[in-house]
Amino acid sequence: MLSLSNIEFSIGERILFSGVDFHINPRDRFGLVGPNGAGKTTFLRIIIGEVLPTRGNVLRTNDLNIGYLPQEEIVLKGGTLIDEVLKDYHKQLERLTKLQTELSKKSNNRQIIRAYESEEERFLRMGGYDYEAEAYKVIAGLGFVKEDYEKKVDEFSSGWQMRIVLARILLNRPELLLLDEPTNHLDIESILWLENYLLNFKGAMVVVSHDRYFLDKILQVKTGATGILEVNQGRFRKYRTNYTGYLRESQIRKERLQHQAKVQERRIKQIKEFIMRNRANKSKAKIVKSREKYLEKLKPVEVEKEHKQIKVRFPLAGIYSKRIVQLAGVSKYYGSKKIFENLNLTVEKGERIALLGKNGAGKSTLCRIIAGYEPPDSGVRWSSEKLRIGTFLHEILLKMNPEDTVIETVSKRAVQEIDQNIRKFLGLFLFSGDDIYKKVKVLSGGEKTRLVILLTMIEPSNLLILDEPTYHLDKSSTDAIKQAISSYGGTIILVSHNRDLIVPFATRIIELRDGRLFNYPGDFFYYLQKRKDTSSYKGERRKKKKTISPMDVLKDKIINLETRRNRLRELFSRPGFIQNPRKAKKLFEEYQRLSREIEKLEESS
Ligand SMILES: Nc1ncnc2c1ncn2[C@@H]1O[C@H](COP(=O)(O)OP(=O)(O)OP(=O)(O)O)[C@@H](O)[C@H]1O
Ligand SMILES: [Mg+2]
Repeated sequence: MLSLSNIEFSIGERILFSGVDFHINPRDRFGLVGPNGAGKTTFLRIIIGEVLPTRGNVLRTNDLNIGYLPQEEIVLKGGTLIDEVLKDYHKQLERLTKLQTELSKKSNNRQIIRAYESEEERFLRMGGYDYEAEAYKVIAGLGFVKEDYEKKVDEFSSGWQMRIVLARILLNRPELLLLDEPTNHLDIESILWLENYLLNFKGAMVVVSHDRYFLDKILQVKTGATGILEVNQGRFRKYRTNYTGYLRESQIRKERLQHQAKVQERRIKQIKEFIMRNRANKSKAKIVKSREKYLEKLKPVEVEKEHKQIKVRFPLAGIYSKRIVQLAGVSKYYGSKKIFENLNLTVEKGERIALLGKNGAGKSTLCRIIAGYEPPDSGVRWSSEKLRIGTFLHEILLKMNPEDTVIETVSKRAVQEIDQNIRKFLGLFLFSGDDIYKKVKVLSGGEKTRLVILLTMIEPSNLLILDEPTYHLDKSSTDAIKQAISSYGGTIILVSHNRDLIVPFATRIIELRDGRLFNYPGDFFYYLQKRKDTSSYKGERRKKKKTISPMDVLKDKIINLETRRNRLRELFSRPGFIQNPRKAKKLFEEYQRLSREIEKLEESS
């Protein structure tokens, strides 16, 4: 179906990878993993032909239908959500109708008959007339609600636009599915839905992800070859196992190589000593010669270099006042759509606040208003005079000039910094050598995030506003951010879906829900408990009523199920939860069952 042989890809002097052979057959499944900047996205772009390799061949079967979800830069314009999702279906129908009309005029034309047959086959492969019904299921699975259907696609945030593209790709049932970090923009429920969808997917797939549970789940299906393809320091290596197995096997492999390298080093030292000792000894001249030859021919055991970790430290600026930012009666609308209304918030020195809320609830907008980057439509924002804000906001990612180089981007922000310092800074963020002259537009997803984090580190601050700061980052960089957050002495407001980050961090949770801001003055577990209590409180009140209607019974049932579901959510967020995959799987399945049941009950209530 697709065959890559002896592929090399280099950029200027730098060889990203070389000697890569990769074949994929219908129904094979591979997870593609490796550190940021290793070349995962580039590899997918070579497969689809968007980028040409510098050496080697790519062979695809004729008309291979590939569905490719890029990692970033999805910009949709034009019609409504439904128009966009049904676009390919309508186009296909149109093609068929046109050919039908032509056929009715020239019924014996072989070329038209062939064209008609091939288009009809394609139509059937897409699901034929079931396509429309399937489309509604898919968009519901990806978290869209009825009110979204007629909304224009450009009104959706980039995360939701990515979901629209994903829906379209899945509905076309491609023979080869290429997904680049699909879980980055999804919340837990949609991730679970996508996992299940992919379990039943009939084609071949290559999926870039660092989500261990997600990869393990989709690699359960063994209809063809399955495994992990790792790209690291220019080499591709295949592991015929799932992600958990890969982590184990690659660790064992690394330790084995390190051991072999040590043994080899010892052996070389012994031989060299022997040669030195006996060089003048004529009777041993032959042995000395042969040992010298042996050394010349010896292939050193290659141990991969340890991957360097970025060094993150957010510098602190002093501030004395207790209250540092305050919002009073703040409202925000986009057009006629209310985002939030009459919102109050006081941020005090030293607080570590996690801002939660569903996708699209307005978290990023609220961050911008707190930062003072965007005025509210009504209400006031007050801030302490000494307030110095450091932000990681997605606008910064979007607003960076794609034509600037890395060093220009940083220099623009740090006028007073001398060049030497900037280079040192950049080095800490693994931009070294020629990397600093790379243009922003060629940086990988993770490299761009690294650059924005770096900008946050230039100026001292006493309030950090971080909106999904681990976006696209590999595990090693995510760990570095986690560490920096925990050692920062100032105040932090953090938006993240990564519970690993929130749980050890937050001393207060605020949640945007239905246009209002809810305050939970405690850690993440306190928040979960309180959320649960709110549900049972409603239950209590209901019990006190004199007559209990069937509707009340139904609602109580929903509350009970929700309580159990919240308990499961809490379990998911515990460190070490995923270490027992069997148990995790069982609980995830129970979670899904509960969600379905709740949904059904809610429909009938
Ligand atoms: N035209 C170019 N000029 C210079 N460097 C480039 C160019 N195109 C890509 N690169 C570099 O090639 C490397 C590989 O990029 P790629 O996007 O494939 O990485 P990735 O593995 O997908 O990373 P991530 O996990 O961050 O998404 C990066 O270091 C990137 O900066
Ligand atoms: Mg990438």
